[in-house]
Amino acid sequence: MVKVTVCGAAGGIGQPLSLLLKLNQNVDELSLFDVVNVPGVGADLSHICSDSKTESFVPSSKEDKSALANSLKGSDLVIIPAGVPRKPGMTRDDLFNINASIVRDLAQGIAENAPKAFVLIISNPVNSTVPIVAETLKKNGVFNPQKLFGVTTLDIVRANTFISQLYAKETKPSDFNINVIGGHSGETIVPLYSLGNSKSYYEKLSQDDQKALIHRVQFGGDEVVQAKNGAGSATLSMAYAGYRLAESILKSFKESSVVECTFLNLDESIKGAKEAKQLINGLDFFSLPVKLGVNGIEEVHYQVLQQISDDEKKLLQVAIDQLTKNIEKGVAFIKN
Ligand code: APR
Repeated sequence: MVKVTVCGAAGGIGQPLSLLLKLNQNVDELSLFDVVNVPGVGADLSHICSDSKTESFVPSSKEDKSALANSLKGSDLVIIPAGVPRKPGMTRDDLFNINASIVRDLAQGIAENAPKAFVLIISNPVNSTVPIVAETLKKNGVFNPQKLFGVTTLDIVRANTFISQLYAKETKPSDFNINVIGGHSGETIVPLYSLGNSKSYYEKLSQDDQKALIHRVQFGGDEVVQAKNGAGSATLSMAYAGYRLAESILKSFKESSVVECTFLNLDESIKGAKEAKQLINGLDFFSLPVKLGVNGIEEVHYQVLQQISDDEKKLLQVAIDQLTKNIEKGVAFIKN
């Protein structure tokens, strides 16, 4: 029996993510939690004749903790796209404080009710919310770095799509699986086009076109925000990305050798984490390709850091500088 819980299931990301999970044959129980509207989403999804059971949970008041507890109990995997989008007049700090509190409270719920679950964080800013979850789980004595994942998969999805669009006659997006390392916002995102089968295509581009491609991956989210006239950010592609990582994790319960990039805590108990840290100024959190297994992250493929081009090394340095601050901000939110 595999139980998956989505926290924030009634949102723009949460709904399509829940639909995809409802269709996954490895999910036996789908638990939907949100502070609003989730009974409707749950009722709607429950009519789909896939084999998983759907349940929805909404708190009856601000003080009601039982809905979250019941939603989380017995979960193998918890995915968190809960949060608020930035509203007019709100600063990034205002947004940070709101989402940070939401994520912290959900992590507290996980610590109390599903301490062994795999946890996938979508709520932004991922570079800071993942450290918040790690610190909260640590405080409760239940942190397992092998099971905490910041979802950076949308950056990989975009990197694959965007290079393929430049070679539309010769390639399809599925021809590529670009490693994207670093963090999950702007210049912290470092696509490694110089490795693997993208190398020959990337090297055919002029320097300006290479720069434009990297920029498009780093700031791809802005294209969606503009196309939605500022009324929202990526939801469908983000749901797909979150689903892809969840699907890989569910697959790794049954087979080994699944590799995905994820933003993880480079705890030295994980094979390859110590070597990775030494190559990125000792950062505690970073996105790298990892090998998944039944216990979660089994090995960090730090070797990509030794194979990157000189141009990518420069991008990496910028990413490290920004990430240091983002991570500190998340840790400070819990510690202070
Ligand atoms: N617990 C559970 N769900 C919550 C909570 C909470 N404490 N607070 C808010 N939510 C729910 C909202 O009710 C809403 O249904 O989270 C959902 C968020 O959905 P949207 O507002 O549509 O936002 P969305 O576009 O899905 O983005 C969610 O993901 O990519 C990030 O930056 C994005 O942080 C944002 C998050």
